[in-house]
Amino acid sequence: MTVSPFLFWLLLALTVIFAAAFAAALSYALRQRVRMKLRPNFGKPPIPHVAIDRWNEIFTSTGLGPNRQSEIFFIGQAGALASINDTETWVLGALAKQANRIFEFGTATGRTTYVLARNAPDDARIDTLTYFDDGKDDASFNAGDPDAEKWKQVVLAESRYDKFYYEDTPVAHKVTQHFGDSAKFDEKPYESKVDLIFVDGAHSYSYVKSDGAKALRMVAPGGVVLWHDYSPRCPGVFRALNELGRELPLAHLKGTTLVAYRKPA
Ligand SMILES: C[S@@+](CC[C@H](N)C(=O)[O-])C[C@H]1O[C@@H](n2cnc3c(N)ncnc32)[C@H](O)[C@@H]1O
Repeated sequence: MTVSPFLFWLLLALTVIFAAAFAAALSYALRQRVRMKLRPNFGKPPIPHVAIDRWNEIFTSTGLGPNRQSEIFFIGQAGALASINDTETWVLGALAKQANRIFEFGTATGRTTYVLARNAPDDARIDTLTYFDDGKDDASFNAGDPDAEKWKQVVLAESRYDKFYYEDTPVAHKVTQHFGDSAKFDEKPYESKVDLIFVDGAHSYSYVKSDGAKALRMVAPGGVVLWHDYSPRCPGVFRALNELGRELPLAHLKGTTLVAYRKPA
């Protein structure tokens, strides 16, 4: 059978149009799926997405570039395990400049501890808590958490550090290193005293709830709590913060996976 050139080109054009329409529909469907995942129960997201300069004026642009109030000492993320991106580093460093007491759940390599200490005032004090896996397996991992075993393995992989990035630096004296399970950490001595708290410890639902509840007791009036990894890729963090977002005015900072809460002064 011979096909006329006209019919050949017509069929080819139709095939191309059909393939392009199919690719566009597929890409739209995938984007919708991600959007739906970000909107639990298909409703308004409980945590509004807010530009960092609308959340805090120190991040506003002068028209020529970022406001000098937000200038920080910066180190990149490359080479550090499970750490934070550049915008998140900027937010953490700039807020640390205004904080005298800082607490971090989750030290890992100590990279974020260093960013906090390097940018904080000379007389600031930074407490950072990490779990160290010495084989005793004594953290109170909640077997009832979704994906409990997976998140336990993630924790153990990140809990092998007993030397830290900030050590042997001129800011090391600002840092107090704590080892132990955050669920057993006594936050009473810190109650309403801490200006900036960074929650980046275990990412399972029950730990995010427990660390978050401690952080909210520890934060001083006018102080800030920041949680890392607010994303459907970390379902425990995502669910715990979406629940908290129904009770407190939280903000999901654009360009980051940070969720922020400022306690009224
Ligand atoms: C994602 S890493 C922290 C990364 C670090 N903040 C950074 O950005 O470079 C998680 C940290 O939380 C700690 N962690 C996990 N479970 C913990 C627990 N139950 N108690 C205390 N620390 C815990 C791990 O040991 C690890 O240091």
